[in-house]
Amino acid sequence: MIVPNIQEMEDAHYARYYARNPVTIIRGSGALLYDDKDREYVDCTGAYGACIVGHAHPKVVQAISDQAKKLIASHESTYNDTRALFASKLSTILPPELNRLFLSNSGAEAIECAIKVARKSTGRRKIVAVKGSFHGKTHGALSATWDAKYRKNFEPLVPDFVHIPFNNSEIAKQTISNDTAAVFVEPIQGEGGIRVPSKEWMALLTDLVHDAGGLLVVDEIQTGLGRTGKMFASEHVDIKPDILCLGKGLASGIPIGATVAAEETMSSLSVGEHTTTFGGNPIVCAAGSATIEVLLEERLVENAAKIGGYFKAGLSELMHTRRIIREVRGLGLMLAVETRFDVHQILTNALHEGVLMLDAGRNVLRFLPPLCIKTNQIDRVLAVLSKTLEREELAKLPG
Ligand SMILES: Cc1ncc(COP(=O)(O)O)c(C=O)c1O
Repeated sequence: MIVPNIQEMEDAHYARYYARNPVTIIRGSGALLYDDKDREYVDCTGAYGACIVGHAHPKVVQAISDQAKKLIASHESTYNDTRALFASKLSTILPPELNRLFLSNSGAEAIECAIKVARKSTGRRKIVAVKGSFHGKTHGALSATWDAKYRKNFEPLVPDFVHIPFNNSEIAKQTISNDTAAVFVEPIQGEGGIRVPSKEWMALLTDLVHDAGGLLVVDEIQTGLGRTGKMFASEHVDIKPDILCLGKGLASGIPIGATVAAEETMSSLSVGEHTTTFGGNPIVCAAGSATIEVLLEERLVENAAKIGGYFKAGLSELMHTRRIIREVRGLGLMLAVETRFDVHQILTNALHEGVLMLDAGRNVLRFLPPLCIKTNQIDRVLAVLSKTLEREELAKLPG
């Protein structure tokens, strides 16, 4: 029997838009992944932050399977029991004033909806975003995203987006004015390198946009649902979103985006102005309800704070022995190690040693493991990291 080479098959057909690791992942359990040769990896990527309750969680698997036997497709032009249940479950963890929900299929789409709602509800066009931010790669979301490498070949983007420097109060004061529809902000910048803004600056942004009659749009697509040790990272910096965007882990890795705001804000768009075929799909909603139940029952938000603290302490200890580390930062299980050099080789070496990690820019290692990760698995990650950093240090900083 000829065994197909999976990597060759994928490479033969798919557009080359992703930088691929030379590994074929075929199954997972909790915070562990397994390749086609049954090698085990500790997953510090969490499928780019989308796997919050752990891979193949039995409760999520059961919910998806039960729903698939009952009904797979159901457009929002009719009512559906599973979709109704998901909305009421989600409302128990959301800020109560954010009482209207729009479901889509990705983080970028959650942002697209927020842009339209912010513009129509205020009757204004100007959107203020932050340098270093990432909000997605569709044209509207890309207009709010900062990095020139994503933007430059696709201009002109959507007009009337401006970017202010991170944590800079003066320019925020000069830029946010009474023609501003909204300020878009991540409570911790994810793709931008796990950068935590100051509480004072976030409070200032909130005051400025509210005084100007605009809206605060908070992108919790990466930070949301317990990742940072609180249900929403907004709680760390004491801000209250007017529009909240969610995605990634909300349905345990089944594609979803959610845009949430108060009734009077969301109702600025009328019937038909913003819809999507798959929004509110029953399988996604079944997975979403199960995800919220598991998050609460297994106290994963508390776990993210506790294990995240243990992980961060371990990383900080490494910093004291490894000159190659410049800084350790982040909250809960959204952590980063900034190094003095490009991290590409470190990622490759760690993969060979059985740990999958992410980058966030050229010289930042990023960790977004499932929130159920265990102490002994963190110990494995720290041991591999110590070894790979030592090797890199000897190569780059001899003597
Ligand atoms: C903060 C933030 N916003 C938006 C997005 C875009 O989400 P998606 O890739 O699902 O479109 C991401 C994805 O990484 C993100 O981290």
